[in-house]
Amino acid sequence: MLRGSKVALRAQHEDDVPVLQAELYDDVVYHSRAEIGPWRPITPGSKESLVVVDDEDERTAAFSVVDVAGDTLLGIAELWRIDSHNRSAHLGLGLRPSARGKGYGTDAVAVLCHYGFVVRGLRRLQVETLADNAAMLRSAERNGFVREGVLRSSAWVLGEFQDEVLLGLLAHDWKGDGAAPLSS
Ligand SMILES: CC(C)(COP(=O)(O)OP(=O)(O)OC[C@H]1O[C@@H](n2cnc3c(N)ncnc32)[C@H](O)[C@@H]1OP(=O)(O)O)[C@@H](O)C(=O)NCCC(=O)NCCS
Repeated sequence: MLRGSKVALRAQHEDDVPVLQAELYDDVVYHSRAEIGPWRPITPGSKESLVVVDDEDERTAAFSVVDVAGDTLLGIAELWRIDSHNRSAHLGLGLRPSARGKGYGTDAVAVLCHYGFVVRGLRRLQVETLADNAAMLRSAERNGFVREGVLRSSAWVLGEFQDEVLLGLLAHDWKGDGAAPLSS
């Protein structure tokens, strides 16, 4: 488990899946805004669910986000498309509706940075998010990510194309100092 100041990241448990599927995957608006690809109905327990436990995909490190005491499930966090040649990865995050706007997202980004840079030895982390996703943009920028560009009309979202913002953070610019999350 990796601990930040407000959240911890641990492996996804089978018990997490129905909650995450119901509150995140099955929310068409959330899915359309936060995930690549179209929403479509997925049978609970299907291997196609985005929140299925899959330990064999080595290019993804998927965590459940829990409160720092480890009692309450808050959402999902992952490094995806981990590229060990270029030493880079993309960062993804989705919190349950009740967990948003309380600082958990900012801390979860910090813990993912610790995992990417310290545990995995990556050099670059990247976030792509919709240009109007103020909470994600801010969570990333508070951790040192900088805006590198706008991907114009890159995302089809519920009837219209929207811009995405590309943000990046390099290991040597990361200020993961004394507050670095602890592993246990
Ligand atoms: C995006 C998300 C992970 C951010 O996590 P969060 O816990 O809600 O964000 P935080 O509480 O850490 O807030 C981060 C900053 O954004 C601001 N913020 C939070 N919610 C906001 C909102 N709805 N509108 C504008 N600003 C907002 C906070 O005030 C804070 O700013 P500050 O650092 O200046 O104080 C979370 O809201 C979420 O899961 N949203 C739905 C899924 C999603 O969009 N995922 C990202 C896909 S790329």
